[in-house]
Amino acid sequence: MLVDEVVRAGLARAETVTRDHRVAVQLDPELPRVSVDEAAITEVIYILLDNASKYAPAGSKITVRASRDGERHVRLMVIDEGPGISAENRERVFEKFFRIPGRQSHDPRRSGIGLGLPIARRLVEAQAGWIWVDALDGRGTSISMTLPATVETPDVDRPAPAALALK
Ligand SMILES: Nc1ncnc2c1ncn2[C@@H]1O[C@H](COP(=O)(O)OP(=O)(O)OP(=O)(O)O)[C@@H](O)[C@H]1O
Ligand SMILES: [Mg+2]
Repeated sequence: MLVDEVVRAGLARAETVTRDHRVAVQLDPELPRVSVDEAAITEVIYILLDNASKYAPAGSKITVRASRDGERHVRLMVIDEGPGISAENRERVFEKFFRIPGRQSHDPRRSGIGLGLPIARRLVEAQAGWIWVDALDGRGTSISMTLPATVETPDVDRPAPAALALK
């Protein structure tokens, strides 16, 4: 599956929640395809965009970035300009029902129960990927995930249809 397709699907699913933010997409040229379940990764991108748009102020920028990560993976990142996640909470935010104390959505109509990130982690790990909160010095939050690149089987390994027909 093309990374571009899965990113577009996630952005489309999150369109209503990201309306008050500026969303930028940066895809490296010549990304390999990824072997993932499209519905699952669309949901993960939605969960990250939902959080970014909930906790970062209206009008701020949200960036979705994809780059090659070695030979076997593609790295997808969702980066915002909000309050950030401190070092001691970087793993805790993936625990069920954990919410950073005192942290409110800037939109009072959009609350939460603390299940988005644990679900995102389950979905990514089910695709043989990893998801984590990046360590940032400055402002904002950056969440990264790796997804397995599709292994392209060289043509020589496959019997040609003509050869099969001869048997
Ligand atoms: N982009 C972000 N910026 C700042 N804090 C965040 C961000 N994403 C998550 N958090 C913090 O991590 C907590 C857990 O996130 P998670 O998505 O699991 O739950 P939620 O957003 O509170 O609720 P739900 O996703 O179930 O509606 C949030 O409550 C928030 O405190
Ligand atoms: Mg959430």
